[in-house]
Amino acid sequence: RPRILSGMQPTSDSLHLGNYLGALVNWVGLQEEFDAYYFVADLHALTVPTDPAVLRRRTQVTAAQFIAAGVDPEASAVFLQSHVHPHPELAWVLSCQTAMGEMNRMTQFKDKTSKGMNANVGLFTYPILMAADILMYDAAFVPVGEDQRQHLEITRDLAERVNTRFGPLLTVPEPYILKESAKIMDLQEPTSKMSGSLSSDKGIVLLSDPPSRIAKKIRSAVTDAEAEVRHDPDTKPGVSNLLVVHSVLSGTPVAELESRFAGQGYGALKAEVADVVVEAVGPFQQRMAELLADPAELDRVLSSGAARAAVVAEATLRRVKDAVGLLPAA
Ligand code: TYM
Repeated sequence: RPRILSGMQPTSDSLHLGNYLGALVNWVGLQEEFDAYYFVADLHALTVPTDPAVLRRRTQVTAAQFIAAGVDPEASAVFLQSHVHPHPELAWVLSCQTAMGEMNRMTQFKDKTSKGMNANVGLFTYPILMAADILMYDAAFVPVGEDQRQHLEITRDLAERVNTRFGPLLTVPEPYILKESAKIMDLQEPTSKMSGSLSSDKGIVLLSDPPSRIAKKIRSAVTDAEAEVRHDPDTKPGVSNLLVVHSVLSGTPVAELESRFAGQGYGALKAEVADVVVEAVGPFQQRMAELLADPAELDRVLSSGAARAAVVAEATLRRVKDAVGLLPAA
């Protein structure tokens, strides 16, 4: 089976609806067809200063949320990035193949620093660690949301460069981005993506939010001054976002929703979107409670996932070290 890999940062107390619809739902759908590696990017999370106890808790919750959403740790390797030691080592080798100018062009870094974030060097070289994560596993596909596209491009460039300089060592990965759910928008600012670090509390639906809170956030979502339920992201970003959320979760085509809600105004749409989200999140939250009640079992899953990942990671690292001229230990 071809391999796929993806990761998420443990940067808030819960994943949100964007992570879920943009990535996690696809992870679950792809795990049978592919040899899947899914990890919590805890090393990446260090790029934003976080209280150590908070980072530990978020890392554990994120891993549990993968499983609660339907990732099957028997089928897929589920692990923490920091448990598989070759990741930062391969990142070092790749960083010595990366031009300063390439990192200077990364839009996520520019966005974050232009908003006043006090960046460290780790945040600057973050895409290189991400490239290492991916190239380590010879991943053919990487299921992510639209915001990761540029990082996938630099990953492809690095793989091709290494292959040109040192021989065919690395698989050049393809992004796997589903058009419809690739960018779930902030409920209060529907022209910006829903983001764990940038969205306001009212703009973001956390997978841990109680049903009443979810319903309230969706009811107060920003729409527009018309009263026509129509999918048109350019002129009606708020309504379009609600239609997408409904469609992806309920499996109903957007066109069908448009005709079902024709002439009904936004209240009816919002009420039904809230129901659809609450219905999806209910079983998820139930499963989360079970998983968090048994941390020893979660630890066991993560350690067996890391052991599976390490077999592949160590082989790739050895291959790369040999090719670039680093001697094996005697
Ligand atoms: P992160 O943790 O920001 O996001 C995790 C995943 O969720 C997707 N996503 C969204 N999709 C749709 N709409 C949104 N509003 C939305 N917000 C987030 C992201 O695209 C992503 O797929 N750099 C990565 C983590 C990472 C990684 C990797 C991913 C580290 N190494 C290797 C893939 C492969 C990140 O910060 O994602």
